[in-house]
Amino acid sequence: MTDQGDETGKRDKKVADQYDRGYDYTTYFDKREYENEAERIAIRELLDGRRFDRAADIGGGYGRLCLLLREYADHVTLAEPSQSQLDAAAELLAGTDIEQVRTQADDLAFDDASLDLVTMVRVMHHLPDPSAEFAEISRVLKPGATAIIEVANYGHYKNRRRFKKEGKPLPTEPVSIRTVQADEPDAIPFVNHNIATVIGQLAAAELTLQRKLSVSNLRSERLKQLLPTGAMLAVEKRLQQRLARTDFGPSIFLELRKA
Ligand SMILES: C[S@@+](CC[C@H](N)C(=O)[O-])C[C@H]1O[C@@H](n2cnc3c(N)ncnc32)[C@H](O)[C@@H]1O
Repeated sequence: MTDQGDETGKRDKKVADQYDRGYDYTTYFDKREYENEAERIAIRELLDGRRFDRAADIGGGYGRLCLLLREYADHVTLAEPSQSQLDAAAELLAGTDIEQVRTQADDLAFDDASLDLVTMVRVMHHLPDPSAEFAEISRVLKPGATAIIEVANYGHYKNRRRFKKEGKPLPTEPVSIRTVQADEPDAIPFVNHNIATVIGQLAAAELTLQRKLSVSNLRSERLKQLLPTGAMLAVEKRLQQRLARTDFGPSIFLELRKA
């Protein structure tokens, strides 16, 4: 959806409400316990032993990660542009003190330098050019505050091997991973990113890389059939740090510090 803007045509802002168009994300993890838990392991590893005052989960969907964040932060806000996701979150988070706000990443409803921790997980694959979103995240973070941003990684092990075999360099720009042609002009993008490019974009927004974890390293339907989830997660836990050096996995968690 596009904001029509004023008569000068200055505003032409895309509203990120595509998750309101009948897609039920709330069941996505029903058959993805391994990925869900692998992401929790990564967040716990990055936040271990730390305590924050104000945290926000940007594009937090139905609040999947909010209660985990609440273990590390005194105040947690779910910041999400889709009303249907917020409605689902209201059910999931009923009886908790997690706040909810309808807002999107390039126009965050938070004051300057008001947050100690921001997370943004599984949103980057909808952001082909995340510069405006990174600038907003930087704006709302206090100096020295932390951001954890998950990036869908185009340069994962399998792609890197393929490109090497073909004698081609990995693309530095985001690559669309849509498998079916979008049927709406403003359909939500699906992209995978070059991690080095994203780290550069973050640095330009004064968000400096502190740590990296490689996540969902064993994502494979075959392995899931062969191994119990618990065994896969035990291996995953041992690999996340080690495999981050080569951006091995399909999902890279970046821990950043606001200058
Ligand atoms: C795959 S879901 C991930 C939800 C949640 N972060 C999680 O990991 O479970 C993607 C979410 O990003 C939200 N989203 C899409 N575009 C966005 C944008 N520009 N700013 C903030 N959130 C956005 C969607 O509404 C959706 O809730």
